Amino acid sequence: MKIVTAYSGGLDTSCMIPWLRENYGGADIVTFTGDLGQDEDLPAVKAKALRTGASEAFVEDLTDEFVNDYIVPSIHASAVYEGMYPLHTALGRPLLAKKLVEVALATGADAVSHGCTGKGNDQVRFEVAIRSLAPQLKIIAPLREWELLTRESEVEYAVARDIPIPITLEKPYSIDQNIWGCAIECGEMEDLWTEPPADAWIMTKDPSHAPRGSVEMVLSYEQGTPTAIDGRAMSAVEIIKVLNDTAGHFGVGRIDMVENRVVGLKSREVYEAPAATLLHMAHTELERICLDRATFNTKRKLSQDFANLIYDGLWFSPLRECLQAFLEESQRTVTGDVRIRVSAGLARITGRRSPYSLYDEGLATYSEGDTFKRESAEGFLALYGLPYRTIAEVRRKMGQPVFKKKKA
Ligand code: ARG
Repeated sequence: MKIVTAYSGGLDTSCMIPWLRENYGGADIVTFTGDLGQDEDLPAVKAKALRTGASEAFVEDLTDEFVNDYIVPSIHASAVYEGMYPLHTALGRPLLAKKLVEVALATGADAVSHGCTGKGNDQVRFEVAIRSLAPQLKIIAPLREWELLTRESEVEYAVARDIPIPITLEKPYSIDQNIWGCAIECGEMEDLWTEPPADAWIMTKDPSHAPRGSVEMVLSYEQGTPTAIDGRAMSAVEIIKVLNDTAGHFGVGRIDMVENRVVGLKSREVYEAPAATLLHMAHTELERICLDRATFNTKRKLSQDFANLIYDGLWFSPLRECLQAFLEESQRTVTGDVRIRVSAGLARITGRRSPYSLYDEGLATYSEGDTFKRESAEGFLALYGLPYRTIAEVRRKMGQPVFKKKKA
């Protein structure tokens, strides 16, 4: 039997290589590691996979594809789960699943395997994606099967098989990072009242120790896609990297939330998303001037559906394609610049402009040059208020109060 397994080189996936061999009849193990822009020594990850029993180890840089085909559409869609989480992990899973399937088909494997736990969302995302793309492949989830129920037993298991323990184990955090953000988990933070420990954060400075003063930046978008910072054209990948540095330096982008998981439980999540925070904020501001009221509001409702769908692991679904078609179309005129001032722990919008702006200063002004026809308001209000006037008349005729008085 040949199994292709998603491999990060962390403790769980490191134990998986020998475990799969021991428990699936000496199976041939092939690993796949995707680079989604996380800071990691990937040649070392590959060497580790081969040294600990994989027969082949594939490593692929997926950063451009991740940004262009997953993150940028999520910016267009304003996809933020439950109003806070920019979905970096959830967006990465379908891409990793797709590559895992490609490697499985290319190497003639019988099964694919992942290192997700039985109570998380990631198993849902991997397995629904794999079923959508290659239903013939068997899926193995060792963490739902094995007896290694604690970190300590995993460490023991690894040490007994000469598997080097990741140095990050000195810190008790489990981290999932890519270019769009990072998620930090640890035992301590399972108590909702406990503040995340100061050394848990990796992409952002503590805002109370951030530099004094502030920087101002102009972010430009074309049809909803970020294209430049301060007039310097850059790829979306470069823009995200620059903004992660700048915003991270000022401690912007820390998120501490309790979210609703697909599998039915609530969990405390701590995220860092410096670039995502700025890019969503500026993008929405541009939409405020470029989209008409009805489109803006309808888009906001569909954004939530789209975010839920990504969170719920339904990237490879007809509904995602339908929603995305609407959301992409809404971006046709979302072109222009937004100025942001970043200071310790805070990003504020200080200006916005667009050739497609629907803001008309002549209509809005209370000073000289007002072009708004105030006489029109009179007729508008007579009709707009007509139903309520009728209701009042009917109720009075029937001897009923127009509104119930509050009981004393
Ligand atoms: N709660 C987030 C999500 O479901 C983050 C998950 C982080 N994953 C991880 N394996 N640490 O998308």
